[in-house]
Amino acid sequence: MLHLRALQSIMVLLGADCRVLEGLQRFSSIPTYLPVNYQVINAESAFFLKEANQEFMRNSSLLSRTEPFFIYQARSMPSVNASYGPLFVEQPVPLELIQNPGAFVASSMFTFNWKVQTFIIQDRIYLSNPRVQVLFYVAGRDWDDYSTIDKLPCVRMFAFHETQEVRGTCQLKGELGLCAAELEPLASWFSPPSVVPGRQ
Ligand SMILES: *[C@@H]1O[C@H](CO)[C@@H](O)[C@H](O)[C@H]1NC(C)=O
Ligand SMILES: *[C@@H]1O[C@H](CO)[C@@H](O)[C@H](O)[C@H]1NC(C)=O
Repeated sequence: MLHLRALQSIMVLLGADCRVLEGLQRFSSIPTYLPVNYQVINAESAFFLKEANQEFMRNSSLLSRTEPFFIYQARSMPSVNASYGPLFVEQPVPLELIQNPGAFVASSMFTFNWKVQTFIIQDRIYLSNPRVQVLFYVAGRDWDDYSTIDKLPCVRMFAFHETQEVRGTCQLKGELGLCAAELEPLASWFSPPSVVPGRQ
């Protein structure tokens, strides 16, 4: 199942000259939409969506057209182009619409929608073995593209307790882009809170 988290919509406006506009005014009382042809380009896979209860004419007129779409995978900046008769526009999809929070900053070396995921190896730790291990791995990557393996970033993890902090770090690597970071909570963190409840 595809997880349609980043729904995007873009309104494509075509510049039309005044004579065309005057001609169009006559039709403005009839519900209409601009019958443009449109396409997402520079994306490995992208889908136009139809809502189940789509108000088809919503935000549409003879001068504009609104269509939601979802970009599943792209290696470079995707664009949308649209044409209507002799008119043609092409616009890059704004970056903030493409990247989920937590995704790598777009750069030529990463595909879009890469993100670092975490898995906490033990969810309870004890004073006898004060060790937190977290597996980090890259999700959403294009598995055909191994050229980025050497350029994977480091991850840092922080743990806080009251005013104290400990850190762990590791370097994502290999074809799976994973690593495990470890940190050791301080022994005092296992004692009852030193701050009177209500004062922190
Ligand atoms: C969008 O651009 C592609 C590549 O330049 C072209 O083949 C296609 O016909 C264009 N589509 C529209 C709807 O203009
Ligand atoms: C319709 O257009 C208005 C004004 O531009 C915008 O605020 C609204 O989000 C649009 N609705 C959809 C479904 O695109």
